[in-house]
Amino acid sequence: MVTVKPPSAYRHKLVTHYLILAFAFFFLCGTVFIVNNPSSSAAGVRAYSAKEVSSKAHLIYGTAWKKGETARLVSEAVKTGFRFIDTACQPKHYDEAGVGKGWTAAAQELGLSRDDIWLQTKFTPLSGQDPFNVPYNKKLPIDQQARESLEVSLKNLKVDYLDSWVLHSPPESFEDLMTVWKVMEEAVDTQRVLHIGISNCYDIDTFRLLYQQARHKPSVLQNRFRAETEFDTPLRHFCRDHGIKYQSFWTLTANIKALATPEVEVLAKAKGLTPQTYMYAFLMSLGYVNPLSGTTSQAHMMEDVAVMERMQGREPMFTEKEQRHMAKILGMPKL
Ligand SMILES: NC(=O)c1ccc[n+]([C@@H]2O[C@H](COP(=O)([O-])OP(=O)(O)OC[C@H]3O[C@@H](n4cnc5c(N)ncnc54)[C@H](OP(=O)(O)O)[C@@H]3O)[C@@H](O)[C@H]2O)c1
Repeated sequence: MVTVKPPSAYRHKLVTHYLILAFAFFFLCGTVFIVNNPSSSAAGVRAYSAKEVSSKAHLIYGTAWKKGETARLVSEAVKTGFRFIDTACQPKHYDEAGVGKGWTAAAQELGLSRDDIWLQTKFTPLSGQDPFNVPYNKKLPIDQQARESLEVSLKNLKVDYLDSWVLHSPPESFEDLMTVWKVMEEAVDTQRVLHIGISNCYDIDTFRLLYQQARHKPSVLQNRFRAETEFDTPLRHFCRDHGIKYQSFWTLTANIKALATPEVEVLAKAKGLTPQTYMYAFLMSLGYVNPLSGTTSQAHMMEDVAVMERMQGREPMFTEKEQRHMAKILGMPKL
């Protein structure tokens, strides 16, 4: 049998045609992917929005104690993929204006707009401020202090609204708490603030009373997550049952011993995680917890963003049995 080989010029033409067809196919696939996936910006930089993932698992980038490095680190965090940022109008521990510089610089570079980023700050009563560096007029009554603090925060963060405004800690009397809360509610009424919350509130009765009396209910409780307060079990359950986000801080530092055990190392490794990202993943898997990460390391930022993205892609990271196991290792009385 004689096989007829195509002449070489014809073969050349055939190969070129196939190459053009393959190129056109991949180009079309790429275009369809970009059009259907708002996460991808034209420049190829991932630029998803806080709105898109607000109901999914996410970490919040914490900005305390970063001083002169705040703007650079916030910018780096946003460029790495963090979209939720926490700060406070409390110059003793936070450079709020640095947060404003950092997020706007990154947003400009990535082509993000205001509502792609979620910004939370706090009103810190006088007892939590450095008396020599109070960001509002300390001679004013507490409601006026809160109003002034909000104006300072909006200016520092370069925004005309906040996604979340949190009372940093309950004032001494419940009456003062409600006085501040009413100012926070006014800010929701005028849409200068979308959500309000409270931090360092470890007494379930106070939190429940606030919830009952509030015209605008708390959307956020930001507390230390640690054994000494039994991991806030009744408070966390109240949050879970009332659609309130529980934001954990000291998540890694207060649980350092448990995270250093070989057992957690093995569990984390099996999921391609570090003990730290395993801890964050465990808490995010509960569905109502948003841990704060204040990392200053680029490598840790990348690991944190990677675990968030895995969970946002609805990867079933933890079974209930695995959740219960981790809760036991930490010493949590209940999940
Ligand atoms: N409401 C309040 O009163 C209050 C109080 C304290 C804090 N906060 C908020 O919570 C934020 C977080 O503070 P935090 O006290 O929980 O601790 P943190 O600042 O998040 O510290 C975490 C520690 O763990 C280390 N780490 C190791 N692996 C990590 C990983 N994969 N991701 C992140 N960190 C990793 C970090 O080191 P590297 O830097 O080397 O990564 C750092 O030393 C603050 O910035 C602030 O916004 C609020």
